[in-house]
Amino acid sequence: MLVTGNDILIPARAGKYGVGSFNTNNMEITEAIIHTAEKLRSPVMVQMSEGAIKYGGQDLANIVIDLATRATVPVALHLDHGSSYESALNAIRMGFTSVMIDASHHDFAGNVAETRRVVEAAHAMGISVEAEIGRLGGIEEHIVVDEKDAFLTDPAEAVQFIEQTGTDYLAIAIGTSHGAFKGKGRPYIDHARIEKIAGMTGIPLVAHGSSGVPQEIVERFRAAGGEIGDAAGIADEDLQRATGFGIAKVNVDTDLRLASTVGIREVLQATPKEFDPRKILGRARDVMAQVIEHKMGVLGSVGKA
Ligand code: 13P
Repeated sequence: MLVTGNDILIPARAGKYGVGSFNTNNMEITEAIIHTAEKLRSPVMVQMSEGAIKYGGQDLANIVIDLATRATVPVALHLDHGSSYESALNAIRMGFTSVMIDASHHDFAGNVAETRRVVEAAHAMGISVEAEIGRLGGIEEHIVVDEKDAFLTDPAEAVQFIEQTGTDYLAIAIGTSHGAFKGKGRPYIDHARIEKIAGMTGIPLVAHGSSGVPQEIVERFRAAGGEIGDAAGIADEDLQRATGFGIAKVNVDTDLRLASTVGIREVLQATPKEFDPRKILGRARDVMAQVIEHKMGVLGSVGKA
């Protein structure tokens, strides 16, 4: 069933488990996400970025909405990183049930003002809202602790921000970053900060940049002819601890990009004569489903729907 973000995330926060919010860009990705959620009886969020809307538009949104409506588990369609009031309202018009307004590049007052506008409009239509405070992005190892603090979400500011905006859930900067290169060795994640923010706030918290970049997938990517440097993601145990502290929405894009490319490369490499898209993209869908299944196990959402 198609539900709002709140319908999925409020129980997750209360139950101390995480729900994957996976980015989609086509039918195969959407099917891998929703069919795996049904198989595992897990709630799930499917998110489209503005780039995905540019690429797939209403066609892609309708695929998600149709699969979600027919699904036997709760599914929300979420706008990832909406850059403006207009973008958030456009997504609602397209049928999204959850929107992110990312005004985190503004100063505090500007972020509050833009977020509030979106919250007021979205709530009038029964749609839930995610906002962000702090700066996501690679926290390089050479940055000293004091400087890290300037980028990461300040707990007292998070409390004020929630009070002043009425946002339903909040993305916090805890050291994670988007992409396949989250740092050397074991990428940094500030658990103490999550615990502190969760203790001072009641709403679901959101972790961006939560791909695990599984080494098995990276090795298969290389073996099938792909080139990738020292890719590394968030360790399963680190993510699991974060969900225990109050991270309820866990954003994953890179892992599915890698998995789908592994599937495509492996088929093309093993069978150079193949040109049936169902064989090529079907395999991509299978590899993505394996990665999603693993992630839902890590997050603890299996059996929660
Ligand atoms: P990853 O790049 O770690 O998959 O993060 C995606 C994300 O946070 C989208 O908002």
